[in-house]
Amino acid sequence: MVEDMKGKIAVVSGSAGIGLGCALRLAQAGARVHLCGNDPKHNETAAEKTSGLDVRMHLLDVSEDQQVSDLAQQVAEADGGINALVNVAAIQPYGNIETTRPSDWDRTLNVNLRSCYLMSHYFYPLLKGRSDASIVHMASVQGHANQRNVLAYATSKGAIHALTRAMAVDCAHDGVKVNSVSPGSIRTPLLEFAAESLTPHGGTMEETLAGFGKSHPIGRVGTVEEVAELVAFLVGPRSGFCTGGDYPVDGGLRAQLGV
Ligand SMILES: NC(=O)c1ccc[n+]([C@@H]2O[C@H](COP(=O)([O-])OP(=O)(O)OC[C@H]3O[C@@H](n4cnc5c(N)ncnc54)[C@H](O)[C@@H]3O)[C@@H](O)[C@H]2O)c1
Repeated sequence: MVEDMKGKIAVVSGSAGIGLGCALRLAQAGARVHLCGNDPKHNETAAEKTSGLDVRMHLLDVSEDQQVSDLAQQVAEADGGINALVNVAAIQPYGNIETTRPSDWDRTLNVNLRSCYLMSHYFYPLLKGRSDASIVHMASVQGHANQRNVLAYATSKGAIHALTRAMAVDCAHDGVKVNSVSPGSIRTPLLEFAAESLTPHGGTMEETLAGFGKSHPIGRVGTVEEVAELVAFLVGPRSGFCTGGDYPVDGGLRAQLGV
């Protein structure tokens, strides 16, 4: 493993699935990682999986102004500044224009989109002027084209692409890169939950996941490690001219017409 994050400080949200995978990858590359999530069980498991690495757990809701502001202050006091912010935490409730209640809409937009704004807003002073300063927002293929019944989720992910562009243009003069990553189906607790709920009677979740995989030209679902590798590149020193982009890690899903 290349130690290209030695001496760097990273803040990552989402203490299961892709967030945990990113935290592991960055810590293995030598970074100190502040990993935050709102589920105590996920935080506990993440602490076990990252033991021996420099990963510090924080329990908070990334859509809550005061909690994010407090975290930024805590990290500033502990480390002075940060080099990377990776906004991964999100939720994916199902619903269309008729079935999505106003409270579902608000919660999804708050957790998925507002959190990216809040985390960036409060951590920006800690990033400005630091070497290889970088922000990555986790978007989705569903920010470009979507399945049925994901109204609020798809809206939040499309808005993350716009947020990424707007921030990249504003932040470039401070030397802060801003990019987003758009995964296809990646095996995580979120995807397993979706597969479980779509598995017909008599079938298995593994068969459903294999079916998801077949819709990707590469023929399988992706791994958390494959997403984390791209994130590590984007926050690392080898992506110095990359900003304002959205990077797919989707097994070719978006390249293929569904007809
Ligand atoms: N897994 C996929 O197939 C897939 C595909 C495209 C995009 N994504 C995106 O990748 C990201 C991670 O997805 P995942 O599959 O790892 O999800 P996951 O549900 O497996 O893990 C998400 C983690 O974020 C935490 N979280 C949720 N709301 C939070 C909040 N308000 N405050 C703090 N923590 C919170 C959860 O507790 C959980 O630990 C999301 O942004 C998702 O939209 C995932």
